[in-house]
Amino acid sequence: MKKVITYGTYDLLHYGHIRLLERAKALGDYLIVAVTADDFDKKRGKINVHQSLVERIEAVRDTGLADEIIVEEYEGQKIDDIKRYDIDIFTVGSDWVGKFDYLKEYCEVVYLDRTEGISSSQIRKEKRSLKLGIVGDNPILEKYINESYFVNGLNVCLVCTKNNEIKKIAKENNILIESDYDKFLDSVDCIYVVTNPADHYDYIYKAINKNKHVLCEAPICLTKKDCISLYELSKKKNVILMEAIKTAYSTAFNRLMLLVKTGIIGNVVSVDSTCTSLKEFNQNNTKDLLKKQSSICAWGPTALLPIFMLLGTNYEKKHISSYILKNNFDLFTKIDFNYNNAVASIKIGKGAKSEGDLVVTGTKGYIYVPAPWWKTDYFEVRFEELDCTKKYFYQFDGEGIRYELVTFVKSIQKLKNISYVSEEISESISEVMEDFNKRKDFDEIKF
Ligand code: CTP
Repeated sequence: MKKVITYGTYDLLHYGHIRLLERAKALGDYLIVAVTADDFDKKRGKINVHQSLVERIEAVRDTGLADEIIVEEYEGQKIDDIKRYDIDIFTVGSDWVGKFDYLKEYCEVVYLDRTEGISSSQIRKEKRSLKLGIVGDNPILEKYINESYFVNGLNVCLVCTKNNEIKKIAKENNILIESDYDKFLDSVDCIYVVTNPADHYDYIYKAINKNKHVLCEAPICLTKKDCISLYELSKKKNVILMEAIKTAYSTAFNRLMLLVKTGIIGNVVSVDSTCTSLKEFNQNNTKDLLKKQSSICAWGPTALLPIFMLLGTNYEKKHISSYILKNNFDLFTKIDFNYNNAVASIKIGKGAKSEGDLVVTGTKGYIYVPAPWWKTDYFEVRFEELDCTKKYFYQFDGEGIRYELVTFVKSIQKLKNISYVSEEISESISEVMEDFNKRKDFDEIKF
């Protein structure tokens, strides 16, 4: 019996897939179809897959062409499969010509002509292409423009800014500019807000009232009341409101959060995160300084994220200590939190430098994420016995931004907020900003 094997994602199964499977089947007597697992797809850069692994397997099964279906989970698995299933022919479409010649050592390799004019990516794009507008003058928006190219179904079409530097970036990317915010809103389906945090509320309020979905750079608001009211409005208007904290979408960070919940380090007794930067910081240039975001807004949401994700938002008390310059710029801040069964702290600053690591202390061991923990692909789970240390490595693409955009698009498509930064966390972040600005639970550090 001649055994044939073929591999693919088979997202939104289409005519091109069926033709490939028919010809693969005709090459022998028994066809094994390997469908790629979600994680494996993500690793090889396919981040937009719409259907779950089970749905994709079902679709392949429904064609009636596969004698057996297996799942492809790791790099190099093809060699294992060929040996394990005693395969005679390996086949894939001609888009892969040459790529699998290394398998010729194990079986015959056949590249079948790809069917022209159809692909899963194309179907995903056509399903719905959302017009995204970006409003603001923070240079981070360039990263969002670049990362949006990886996201099917999202097209950055307009930028609303008065800043000449940003206008230049938009022009370089062939993106139109509209300085009138109302006209801007009328031309898009959804927006990404990167304005000064003090202006977020007004921008978001207007956008939601025009039924536009909103992704807003953290912190969404500077008071808890404002944050609650915007989420309420978004529900009333049936649009998505999502807080953008890219770290939440980095695979390593996300897996770390899940791992802690499995109890691997016992009960969490402390979460301590540090985020500092000195780049472009000139303490003596007041004009330059005031243009920059304060430390609490720039670093606070990211530093608070692991604390609120692991310990929740119902802390019993907190204490803020901050070093504030005469011109009101917060140079360095430490916040301590007390929970009924744990403690936590953040150290943040744009005018002081420290080791930017994250430590999660547990009753059985601890997790160490080296600096800069907010954009890491790696962490360690450590125990009393040094030789029990476990090291975890993950893919780190686009600082998490592209996965954040994919989540935004999927939330819009499902009309359900599936963001990793929950509404509750957003509200608590806004509350910390508010207390900081009102100098509540606050002591000024004097140097
Ligand atoms: N295939 C084909 N003709 C097409 C599309 C895909 O012959 N028009 C083949 C591929 O070469 C591969 C198999 O079908 O052997 C599964 O491909 P997959 O990557 O799942 O489908 P694509 O439509 O290429 O997906 P994407 O657009 O996400 O890359």
